[in-house]
Amino acid sequence: MMRYNNIVILTGAGISAESGLATFRDEEGMWNKHRVEDVATIQAFARNPEYVHDFYNEMKKDLIKVEPNAAHLAITELQKNYPAKISVVTQNVDTLHEKAGNENIYHIHGQINQAVCMNCGTIIKTRDDVKTEDDCQQCQVQGMFKPNIVFFGENLLCMNEVDALLRGCDLFVSIGTSGVVFPANTFVRTAKYYNADTIEFNLKSTANNYEFDRHVIGKAGETFPKFVDELLEEIKAVADI
Ligand code: OAD
Repeated sequence: MMRYNNIVILTGAGISAESGLATFRDEEGMWNKHRVEDVATIQAFARNPEYVHDFYNEMKKDLIKVEPNAAHLAITELQKNYPAKISVVTQNVDTLHEKAGNENIYHIHGQINQAVCMNCGTIIKTRDDVKTEDDCQQCQVQGMFKPNIVFFGENLLCMNEVDALLRGCDLFVSIGTSGVVFPANTFVRTAKYYNADTIEFNLKSTANNYEFDRHVIGKAGETFPKFVDELLEEIKAVADI
């Protein structure tokens, strides 16, 4: 019986799929409808900021409407009832972890409800459209806001904190990510190197599934809450002894 002290949960687009959001690389995925080179690179933004703003403004409208599902809520359940440090490292730019009441969330790919001024670094939170002509209230410079999304070719956010979490965790859980995108697809290796148990939840086999100790195939909204119940049962059993 294992009692964990430090759990890291990595999430990808698959955890939000049952809330009604498109993933990126599945058949109906976003990158089958749009070219990454047009909307998700820093070069695309430099070339045509209006187009890129429109893309993320539309995406934001969809994301604001949706609700967390059973997998997001199971994380809250775990954080409330399991006596360990539990962190959520997400590649998702949606706000479903927050809406579900999750805590200790690290958005390594940014957040759709934010924009960052490239002149002074100020981050604003907004449900409204972000436009090229917007002024920054902090530095008074116009036209420098970019969606606070990490584009291909940019550095990820909060990586020092995430690296420390990975080196200290004893359980690493991955939910709904294809294991294709660097560096999130290397997190399991770091956690494993530091002796963590590793488990992934996905609808199907992933690009790096051979690196995990356990795989649970199925919808995260069904499989992950069951796993949380098992962890909580184990804690109860230890307390009963
Ligand atoms: P992908 O679209 O690459 O992968 C989604 C994964 O979720 C796939 O492996 C699916 O099998 C799985 N999946 C779908 N529905 C599921 C369900 N109900 N339960 C469990 N698994 C399910 O998305 P990510 O791996 O998140 O970056 O992609 C990583 C990054 O690539 C994204 O953050 C995005 C993209 O480019 C940026 O936009 C910066």
